Amino acid sequence: MNETNLINDSAPAIDYLALDQLVEERFNNDKENLIMILQAIQAEYNYLPRPALAYLSEKIEIPLSRIYGVATFYSTFSLEPRGKNIISICLGTACHVRGAGRVLERIEDTLHVENGKTTDDGQFTLESVRCIGCCSLGPVVKINEDVYGRIASEDLTQILDHYGESGG
Ligand code: FES
Repeated sequence: MNETNLINDSAPAIDYLALDQLVEERFNNDKENLIMILQAIQAEYNYLPRPALAYLSEKIEIPLSRIYGVATFYSTFSLEPRGKNIISICLGTACHVRGAGRVLERIEDTLHVENGKTTDDGQFTLESVRCIGCCSLGPVVKINEDVYGRIASEDLTQILDHYGESGG
């Protein structure tokens, strides 16, 4: 993958001092802790900003290409900015046969966002997943850490409102 395609021009300001402390104090400046360091960076910024990865590459002496290799291998990492709220719609078989496709369409229509993208206001990122382990409750939608089972498209507006500007 071409790394330049992963650069996002609207990257946030990185607090390098905090990043230094994080890597040194929590992870002992140890490249063996790369995955945990990336998890911590993502927890801070909601994704992995390129400037933070470039800095990390120098700091723990790992080629940037290897950091990107790890970041792209694990689906939990994102190299794109993500919304304040993450909506995961399950499109696994059990949820699919129970109408997950209609639920997905309803979310896309309601929030004006495509699957895999973030709303213009940065409130929501919509992602599809294959199974989140509660198939008997299908169709299932997870918003951040909240799981909604047997969801009906009519219920979505009210649920999404809860996570809007003032919610979440
Ligand atoms: S298929 Fe949707 S939770 Fe398993």
